[in-house]
Amino acid sequence: MTPSDVKATLSFSDGSPSMELPIYKGSVGPDVIDIRKLYGQTGKFTYDPGFLSTASCNSKITYIDGDKGELLYRGYPIEQLATNCDFLETCYLLLNGELPNQSEKDDFVGRVTKHTMVNEQMQFFLRGFRRDAHPMAVLTGLVGALSAFYHDSTDINNPEHRKVAAIRLIAKMPTLVAMAYKYSIGQPFIYPKNDLSYAGNFLRMMFATPCEEYKVSPVLERAMDRIFILHADHEQNASTSTVRLCGSSGTNPFAAIAAGVACLWGPAHGGANEACLNMLEEIQAMGGISKVGEFMEKVKDKNSGVRLMGFGHRVYKNYDPRAKLMQETCNEVLAELGLENDPLFALAKKLEQIALEDDYFVQRKLYPNVDFYSGIVQRAIGIPVPLFTAIFALARTVGWIAQLDEMIGDPEYKIGRPRQLFVGAEKRDVAPIGKR
Ligand code: CMC
Repeated sequence: MTPSDVKATLSFSDGSPSMELPIYKGSVGPDVIDIRKLYGQTGKFTYDPGFLSTASCNSKITYIDGDKGELLYRGYPIEQLATNCDFLETCYLLLNGELPNQSEKDDFVGRVTKHTMVNEQMQFFLRGFRRDAHPMAVLTGLVGALSAFYHDSTDINNPEHRKVAAIRLIAKMPTLVAMAYKYSIGQPFIYPKNDLSYAGNFLRMMFATPCEEYKVSPVLERAMDRIFILHADHEQNASTSTVRLCGSSGTNPFAAIAAGVACLWGPAHGGANEACLNMLEEIQAMGGISKVGEFMEKVKDKNSGVRLMGFGHRVYKNYDPRAKLMQETCNEVLAELGLENDPLFALAKKLEQIALEDDYFVQRKLYPNVDFYSGIVQRAIGIPVPLFTAIFALARTVGWIAQLDEMIGDPEYKIGRPRQLFVGAEKRDVAPIGKR
């Protein structure tokens, strides 16, 4: 990290000595004030619930300019990656810092492909779940269980173990997600077919049956691949921070990624695409486009507890660049499937148009995020709504691993251990039960 010539001075109105704090400059983006010595020198902590102003690490992987609506993986704009690269090239980039040349790509694809099968015993583990279990409950369990199957890649401090665990996780996530789906509908599991692309293989494992040949549609394959690219990483979001925090204790990579899956499940994070589609279906059931105005009034009423799902973002205060790409994919997929007049798509466009013109949204800088259109694309492909977040987890796995790997390789890394402002009861004595 590059220290800046400028320093911050912290002074106190009670006459306590002031303190000078170093400032570090990033390659782009805001500078950070280094407060690591604050407690040692002043006996005080900082208070920042939700990490609104706190950088928890330094990172070279992903950069977001929320005001411009810009997303870069290792410096490359998401728009260029989504149009010129496939998901496995993007994985290579996130993990290694550079895009692969042809032979590096062939080698990487070959290594991922060789690991697509899961230990046969995993299906007996899966069979322990109820068939109506939420796929994210199943996936949290299955990913955590990988650590019980692949003992030769569980030492997080061993770079070779981390490399193999990374390849295994990227390779096996599509297999696990498809297995969770097949189990929920009572169909036989479809084994991976390694002459297909990563996205094509996933579609086949999801939708093929042993009775018939399955032909992968190139448009749907490309759409799936784009969904994976757009969700691959997003700097220090809640699930990535969870993976870093979990991994900081030295736990194995599979356990750390399982923690990320669990965090992603929430509706304010990865669960938003599912929540968004449910919202569209609800408005449709209420009467569709004619009820949009009424619904928007509820969204703007703070007491209603209703939010416009797929809108707003902690970092983007402009159009989420992924939402634009996803809208483009949505048009392509709906045209391919002859669903151009899909009522939910029309409804989503109407909601977007109203929100972008409405003062409530304009003033708060609320724009569509990636989840606004990704649900419509996935539903059109035939993916059931509860599986949406599992697909997000599949795609985000590479980002989680890249970030975990970066953290372990950082000489400044320590176990994550936030402090607190304690506002509870002071020390007191336990009264005997009859006197409480
Ligand atoms: N609908 C209505 N009002 C909203 C919305 C929304 N979707 N999002 C934010 N607001 C309002 C909020 O009520 C608040 O208003 P006020 O200042 O009057 O109290 C203001 O905008 C700021 O909101 P916030 O909750 O303080 O912002 P945040 O940064 O803590 O939350 C968010 C970000 C993504 C959790 C939130 O925008 C949200 O709940 N959006 C809907 C869920 C969603 O689509 N999440 C997916 C995020 S993208 C996928 C990912 O990267 O995980």
